[in-house]
Amino acid sequence: MMIALNNQQGLNLSILDAAETWKWLSVQLQVAASSSHASMHLMTVATVDDHGHPDARTVVLRHADPVDRTIRFHSDVRCGKIAAIRRTPQVALHWYLQTLQMQVRIAATATVHHLDATATTAWDASRPMSRACYTPSIAPGDVTSCFPPAPLAPAIDDTTGLAHFAVVVCRFDAFELLALHASGHQRVRVHLDAVPVTWDVLAP
Ligand SMILES: Cc1cc2nc3c(=O)[nH]c(=O)nc-3n(C[C@H](O)[C@H](O)[C@H](O)COP(=O)(O)O)c2cc1C
Repeated sequence: MMIALNNQQGLNLSILDAAETWKWLSVQLQVAASSSHASMHLMTVATVDDHGHPDARTVVLRHADPVDRTIRFHSDVRCGKIAAIRRTPQVALHWYLQTLQMQVRIAATATVHHLDATATTAWDASRPMSRACYTPSIAPGDVTSCFPPAPLAPAIDDTTGLAHFAVVVCRFDAFELLALHASGHQRVRVHLDAVPVTWDVLAP
């Protein structure tokens, strides 16, 4: 794929097509899942609760599959976002890539995996420090009388936290990019359910 960085280090969408743009994003997503230094490693997930109220929070991108068009994150099944997703599985994923001056938006449908093969496989692959987040008996968002200390990393065979551990799989068919350029911002919506993939160029 042609490297489309302009002299401001932004991505120049005018010399890419829809397929090349999807290839670029799918590489970024996969790198983000494997490196905490990657610009897309942290993402914002927006949900809607059963009163129609939106909420958004940061999560770690744990896995991306460009073939399935899925992105995964891990969470505590007791969290407010899990209840929201179970009622309303439509979620919005968002990143701002500072160095590229680019916004990425994905509308997805989320599925919660808890105490199933997907959750167990991810649990088995997770490090003790990551598992520690799921061991406290107090649930995320509960009111407490003081700031709780950091939970200790459990022993490798300690499955206490598994009961609280959830994998959220977000599946999508399209994404939107907004690349900021002094010469003119570039906004596209890429449709992945077409073969070959197509895009709409949008007014920024
Ligand atoms: C850098 C960072 C990474 C985070 N990663 C996760 C994560 O991977 N999963 C998660 O459930 N919460 C993560 N959180 C905490 C959430 O942002 C949020 O505070 C928590 O999950 C409760 O959200 P909820 O009440 O909306 O469900 C992270 C927070 C920060 C600041």
